[in-house]
Amino acid sequence: MFCPRDFTVFISCVVLFIVVQSSHGSEIIDGKEVKPHSLPFMALMETPMENEICGGVLIHPSWVLTAAHCAAAKVFLGVHSEKEKESSQVRVVKKKVLHPCYDPTDKVNDLMLVKLNKPVKQTTMVKWLRLGNTAKDPAAGTSCLVAGWGKTNNVARKMSDVLKSVNVTVIDRVKCNSPKYYNFRPIITRDMICAGSNGQNHADTCQGDSGGPLLCGGALVGVTSFGIGCGVIDKPGVYSFLSEKQLVWIKKTTNKSEI
Ligand code: ARG
Repeated sequence: MFCPRDFTVFISCVVLFIVVQSSHGSEIIDGKEVKPHSLPFMALMETPMENEICGGVLIHPSWVLTAAHCAAAKVFLGVHSEKEKESSQVRVVKKKVLHPCYDPTDKVNDLMLVKLNKPVKQTTMVKWLRLGNTAKDPAAGTSCLVAGWGKTNNVARKMSDVLKSVNVTVIDRVKCNSPKYYNFRPIITRDMICAGSNGQNHADTCQGDSGGPLLCGGALVGVTSFGIGCGVIDKPGVYSFLSEKQLVWIKKTTNKSEI
């Protein structure tokens, strides 16, 4: 039997599909391919089933920083094109250290440290990024860089073959928690950074970019964590902020020789 309600649902779905389809160009979301190996600390992480990817940041010859929700098993360093990953420095995850306060429900502390089975060799294509001792909370309006091999639009099922990057603009936490934005679902805390469109574009990260870096003025400031859809102006990407307490946890963990 035909019900008017079904018709409304159908029309809403069609409209939603068209809106989502048409709102972006290609790339990370609205980004472009990076100069090959210009971000030599970028790690490509693969899950055990090889069907999902995440980004990561090499912060030490044996340690990669990524997101806690990433199920990493294999790590590739010095990759530009995903197709050529096997010819990069390939490592296996020896140990995963989840942030002790990671909570998948409220998405706080979405950070994980991954110890590699063997240290990487520093080359022109592979370099670790040293973390500073002080956290720098970027002011609203700051333009920061994000990078990854993730999806280039909402409807794509495939990831990007090459590493892409885009500049995202930091959004004030109060604004990011406001009803039009995340409306406290989840609460955007002091340990998170919202960053996205500059008002003109749809700059964002997307699925597969998680665990990758948020770089402000060249310094590692955050790690790609979550968002609702991709490239939606009032649902910007949310990044785990490398606040003072997170830096302490990272230093403590990576300095422990027994791990
Ligand atoms: N959680 C995603 C991942 O696992 C990252 C999503 C980022 N989304 C966004 N709209 N910025 O890859």
